[in-house]
Amino acid sequence: MLIDPDDFPRVELDFMNRVHDEEVAMLNRLADLVTQRETDPAVQADIDALLNAFLTHMRRHFADEEAMMRRIAFPPYPVHKQEHDRVLDALTALHEQTDRRELERFLLEELPGWLDQHVATMDMITARFLAMQGVSEPGDNVET
Ligand SMILES: [Fe+2]
Ligand SMILES: [Fe+2]
Repeated sequence: MLIDPDDFPRVELDFMNRVHDEEVAMLNRLADLVTQRETDPAVQADIDALLNAFLTHMRRHFADEEAMMRRIAFPPYPVHKQEHDRVLDALTALHEQTDRRELERFLLEELPGWLDQHVATMDMITARFLAMQGVSEPGDNVET
């Protein structure tokens, strides 16, 4: 297993934990498929579909967190968004390449460490502030 879900950092909002769990599961599935491809090249179609799904998921993940932060006027918003943008720009550039091997390598070798570190710091602090402000999901209204 690439990432042990039980070892992955948890934050104070279930909504965010759920989104993170989904991405951990997708990365674990990608690692399995890449191993499987060595003996069964036909899984390439599943890998391609998963790569697309992962990018879509991550865009939504970041956009939802950013929307929640804007609603509570969270001061570290620019720093948090900058981290999102940096990774998303890297992923998007790799995704646009015809050869997807570099994207696979990035997802399997670089992203797990980044994601763990990001969730344990930026997301952790952000979730605590959101919870204090009564925001638990992107669609929630701020309690007054
Ligand atoms: Fe997150
Ligand atoms: Fe984040």
